[in-house]
Amino acid sequence: MKKVVLGLATLAMVFSCQNDQNDANSNDFQEVQVDMSDFTLLVEDDGLTDKSAKGAEKCHSMNNLEYRLQKDAGLAKKMYDVEYNTRKAIALKANAKGKPGGGSGGGGGTTPIYTGAITIPVVINIIESSPGKVTEAQINSQIAILNDDFNNNNSGTSSVPSEFAASVADINITFTRGAVNRKISSNTSWGTNDAMKFASQGGIDATDTANNLNIWVCEIGGGILGYAQFPGGASASDGVVIGTDFFGETSAGGIYGHGRTATHEVGHWLNLRHIWGDGRCNRDDYVSDTPTSDRANYNCPSYPTTHCRSNDMTMNYMDYVQDDCMYMFTTGQNDRMRALFVAGGAREGFVN
Ligand code: ARG
Ligand code: ZN
Ligand code: CA
Repeated sequence: MKKVVLGLATLAMVFSCQNDQNDANSNDFQEVQVDMSDFTLLVEDDGLTDKSAKGAEKCHSMNNLEYRLQKDAGLAKKMYDVEYNTRKAIALKANAKGKPGGGSGGGGGTTPIYTGAITIPVVINIIESSPGKVTEAQINSQIAILNDDFNNNNSGTSSVPSEFAASVADINITFTRGAVNRKISSNTSWGTNDAMKFASQGGIDATDTANNLNIWVCEIGGGILGYAQFPGGASASDGVVIGTDFFGETSAGGIYGHGRTATHEVGHWLNLRHIWGDGRCNRDDYVSDTPTSDRANYNCPSYPTTHCRSNDMTMNYMDYVQDDCMYMFTTGQNDRMRALFVAGGAREGFVN
């Protein structure tokens, strides 16, 4: 993969003035350090090729990111800024903890991480070979699965090993079914270069991406389950793409037929990286409560599975295991996602 060079300062100091009503010292300056030295948009390909694994399931969100970085000269800087603001919010949250009146709040612009209820309307753009091939049952089951997974209602969660149990998070995001747009096409290999997102290329244009999650359902081809666009990208291509056989509950999808590709891709759309950090042991997913690993896990790994001297959290939605073997997000992942919803954040439109 081509190297993406970020010619930006790697360490910066942030001073923020907090208006703390419970504190006599109301001109209290909070100082946090944001270390960006490990931030990268680069994927170490070696980290993705586990010889014993099914090579078919490659990292297509990262492939699409590579494509978009080449097309859009300003994208790396935009994603750097999203990351910077995310880290700043998480550092401010850590600082606020233990201070009188700190760490609470209803999700306004002054709280570092949005804590209120979040509702995400979903527009479903279906490109199918015959009318109704993607069924109502598929659509409704997908919405239900997203709601289960983002509200800690996945029945598999009871199997989380005790070492990870305290990290299980209820993300508290509700997905609602919005418009369903359908188009007929015989294309069976749309690929990962976003053609399905543009009517001018035979696809369906996105609907108001500041206020809707757009999901495109089509034949991606190449055994690809799905891919997402990370926050900070162009609004016209914002959303996630899911292969027809892997959308909702399907028998055609086999071990990937239980709707968890959408959960994983929506995780990327909300700024989550793969749990192993797309690289070797020293590469992170920028989440402190997920253990370091140097590879994806596949199928249904037994516990413990150990890499980089710690047990992998293979049951995390951001690993590559089969659908019924993934059943948790962590508190740290929750903070990363929710940092996008504050005023000025990449997903603020959903709460305003
Ligand atoms: N490989 C896909 C990606 O690029 C999706 C993986 C989803 N995994 C699953 N068990 N459904 O992110
Ligand atoms: Zn992924
Ligand atoms: Ca981590």
